[in-house]
Amino acid sequence: MHQKTDPSAPPRGPAGLRMTRRGFVAGAAALAAGLPRRAPAAVQEGGGLRAAQLTQQILPGDYPQTPLWGFNGSAPGPVLRLAQGARLRQRLSNELDQPTSVHWHGIRIDNAMDGVPDLTQAAVAPGQSFDYDFTVPDAGTFWYHSHNRSTEQVARGMFGALIVEDADVPDIDADEVLVLNDWLLQGDGTLAGDFEAPHARAHAGRIGNVVTTNAAFDYALPVRRNQRLRLRLINASNARVFALGLYGLEGWIMALDGMPLAAPRAVGDALTLGPGQRADLFVDVTADAGGEAFVYRLERDGPAAQARFVVADGSRTRRGAPAALAPNREPALAPADQSETLVMNLEGGAMGRLQTARLDGRMQSFDQLLEANQFWSFNQIVGMTDTPFADVALGQTLRVDLRNDTAWPHAIHLHGMHFNELAADGTPGPLRDTVFLNRGERRQIAFVADNPGNWLFHCHMLSHAASGMATWIRVRA
Ligand code: C2O
Ligand code: CU
Repeated sequence: MHQKTDPSAPPRGPAGLRMTRRGFVAGAAALAAGLPRRAPAAVQEGGGLRAAQLTQQILPGDYPQTPLWGFNGSAPGPVLRLAQGARLRQRLSNELDQPTSVHWHGIRIDNAMDGVPDLTQAAVAPGQSFDYDFTVPDAGTFWYHSHNRSTEQVARGMFGALIVEDADVPDIDADEVLVLNDWLLQGDGTLAGDFEAPHARAHAGRIGNVVTTNAAFDYALPVRRNQRLRLRLINASNARVFALGLYGLEGWIMALDGMPLAAPRAVGDALTLGPGQRADLFVDVTADAGGEAFVYRLERDGPAAQARFVVADGSRTRRGAPAALAPNREPALAPADQSETLVMNLEGGAMGRLQTARLDGRMQSFDQLLEANQFWSFNQIVGMTDTPFADVALGQTLRVDLRNDTAWPHAIHLHGMHFNELAADGTPGPLRDTVFLNRGERRQIAFVADNPGNWLFHCHMLSHAASGMATWIRVRA
């Protein structure tokens, strides 16, 4: 990535829509009033999450508002902030006319609180409620989202950030949550219809035409030169893969999927975030006062602004390179561990080679799968069955060799436990809860199955999960 293209070009919008860049009014006011030191306020402990319809301005102000579904009147929903080890208690009240549930993505959680209909709880019917109550063992950046009919409910706005504070506050000037998302909108502001469209299912998934940060297409923040910001990036989109870079900022990856890296890593040319993945960055503002800095995303025709930072004068000096964040736990995996390896073939989709797979208990041709609006399989099994992908005793080490034999990227998420991505020589890499595989890519993961229960294991391209890319792992107590 050469920084010769201007990432401050106006954001691209839906075809035929004129996307204008609004004035920096809110930012200028905040600048005058002094810098915000924190992300939006946390909701009150036990205040509850109300799932309901709302409308919100997603397109530029001269376009109509967008009817959405969300939590507590906004999309994304409130930022939930807790101390490490604290107990989260929230009553989910469903005021929608569709059943729903909440999954707490990346939390090493009590299985009964994992929020997966038909696996860990019944979906919460309209007018009903469910009490979520669990502790958060790891400090880091997590998120919550609907886990019923997720392709639709997440596309409508049912997600938010879940932040678990470090016991030792790091040396930073601001802590910002940036929820990255895209929306598939029509010119009248409404979401484009068919959430089960076969084309999106068989290809990359539901990709939006308006890309936002915290639901703003022109997200901007006032900063000062030489400040150090913690940016908590969350990819909440249905299917979009973000390739991100920095301009006017120098940054380090401090944590991935909520788990600190043993050593901070320079952001460099591009940071890939698949759906469901998170990255905690520390960034130093290196742009000159009066200038702008950017987190940009790479698109086919160059960089586009994902978050804009308006730079005021600040300190003369910069900090040194940051030290690693405290680990959440000792590495549970012994590098020499020689447990059995399970192969998981990712198969299907448009331009794939899948001929036949098991659906509803019998082998069916790819044409028959198409007929059923199903397109994907793991090891030639389409979707959830009574038989888990793996059935292991508590404490057993599991290695999975993921082989993406499709023409599409996938982001495979394991509930309830983090795993190590393994390097080619088998040494454990970063702890993650979602592994990204480009087309044709192969990757090994390994983990100690230390959390009992039934855990979903699925593609986080939500259209893919709904059309075959979902299975589960049983960890026997
Ligand atoms: Cu973030 Cu099963 O999902
Ligand atoms: Cu997928």
